[in-house]
Amino acid sequence: MKAAVVPEVKARWELREIPTPKAGPGQVLIRVHACGVCHNDLWVGQGVFPFPPLDPVVVGHEAAGEIVEVGPGVTTRRVGERVGTTWVQATCGRCEYCRLNLPLTGQSGMNCPESVMSGLTVQGGHAEYVAVSAESTVLLPDTVPYEVAAPMLCAGYTAWSALRAAGPKPHERVAVLGIGGLGHLAVQFSRACGFETIAITRSPDKHRLARSLGADHVVADGEQLRAAGGADVVLVTGTSYQAAGETLQGLRPHGRIVLATIDPVNSFTIPPTSPFWAQRQQVIGATHNGLDQLTEALGLVASGAVTPLIETFPKERVAEALERVDRGEVRFRAVVSYV
Ligand SMILES: NC(=O)c1ccc[n+]([C@@H]2O[C@H](COP(=O)([O-])OP(=O)(O)OC[C@H]3O[C@@H](n4cnc5c(N)ncnc54)[C@H](OP(=O)(O)O)[C@@H]3O)[C@@H](O)[C@H]2O)c1
Ligand SMILES: [Zn+2]
Ligand SMILES: [Zn+2]
Repeated sequence: MKAAVVPEVKARWELREIPTPKAGPGQVLIRVHACGVCHNDLWVGQGVFPFPPLDPVVVGHEAAGEIVEVGPGVTTRRVGERVGTTWVQATCGRCEYCRLNLPLTGQSGMNCPESVMSGLTVQGGHAEYVAVSAESTVLLPDTVPYEVAAPMLCAGYTAWSALRAAGPKPHERVAVLGIGGLGHLAVQFSRACGFETIAITRSPDKHRLARSLGADHVVADGEQLRAAGGADVVLVTGTSYQAAGETLQGLRPHGRIVLATIDPVNSFTIPPTSPFWAQRQQVIGATHNGLDQLTEALGLVASGAVTPLIETFPKERVAEALERVDRGEVRFRAVVSYV
C-alpha cells in the first residue's frame, strides 16, 4: 500500500510503498478514504513530541474509511461498514488506571503505560490502509462524506469535548481562542447550541470567516474580550498557553477556561494581578472525552448544524498539506485523500 512516511525528524513526508497491515485479533482493517492533518501530526514529525519508535513512521489519527477485513474475535463491526478512527485505540486493562474501568478517552492514553495510540505507538491513518482496534471505531452517519468526517475524529471530538467540559448554562457567553482546526469547529458547536459566541483570533483575515461560522463578535485578544463584555467560558483551542493566560482578563466571575491546547513550549500562568481566586474561576483540561461525545459531534454534522471547512489534498501532495498547516495557511482543516 501507499503511505505517507515521515522519513526522520523534521524531514518532508514522502508517499512510499510499505507492507499493507492485516487485521489482528480485536482489530479491523480500514481502507482509508480520508485522514485529517492535526497540529499534533506536525509536531510529532518535527520532533516537538517524542518521535514514534515505528518503522516506518506513519502518523495520523483522523482516518475515515471502509472496513475491508475483520480480525479474530470482532463481533461489533462488519466488512463494508463506514467508520472513523480515533487517537487512543486501546489500553492494557490491568494497570492502576485501567482498574478504574473508565471509558476510552484521551485521558486513558496519557495514563495507561501500554496504551495503543494511532501514529504514536502504532502506525497511524495517513495511509491507504490502517489496522485499528475495533472498539475505538465509530460508525459514521451515512450522509457524512469521509473527508468531512475526518476532521471530526480529533479536532471536532476535542472541541466538542471542551465545550461539554465547560458545561455552559443557557444564558452564558462562550469565547473560542484560536480559530484553526479545533477552533473553527468550537465556534460552530457553541453557536449550534445557541450560545452567544465570541471568536478570539490573532489573524485579521479570519474575522469575516469567524462571523460566517457563527461568531457573534470577533476580537483579537483578552483585552478586547473584556471590552466586549467578557465571557463565562473560554475554550482555548489555539497553540499557545501564553495567549490563554492573557484571555483571563476577559473571563467573567465564575468563568471557566478550558485548555484543549497542548503548548509544548510555554506555560499557562495566572497573572499575579488577576483576582482569579476571588472570581472563583476554574481552569479545566479537555481532551477526547469518550466516544459518546464523538457521536454527538458527528450527529451535529449529520444534521447540518456544523460543517467542517476543509482543504483536501491528494495523497501525492501530502507534504504540501503539512507545509500549509505549518505556515498556518489552511482554512481550516487539511484533509488528505488516500483513495
Ligand atoms: N486536547 C487534545 O486532546 C488535543 C487534540 C488535538 C489537538 N490539540 C491541540 O489543539 C491545538 C490546536 O490544534 P489544531 O489542529 O486545531 O491546530 P491548527 O489548525 O494549526 O490551529 C491552531 C491555531 O492556533 C492559533 N495560533 C497559532 N500560533 C499561535 C501563537 N503563536 N500564538 C497564539 N495562537 C496561535 C491560530 O489561530 P488564530 O489565527 O485564530 O490566532 C491557529 O489557527 C494544538 O495545541 C494541539 O496540540 C489538543
Ligand atoms: Zn489530533
Ligand atoms: Zn492500563
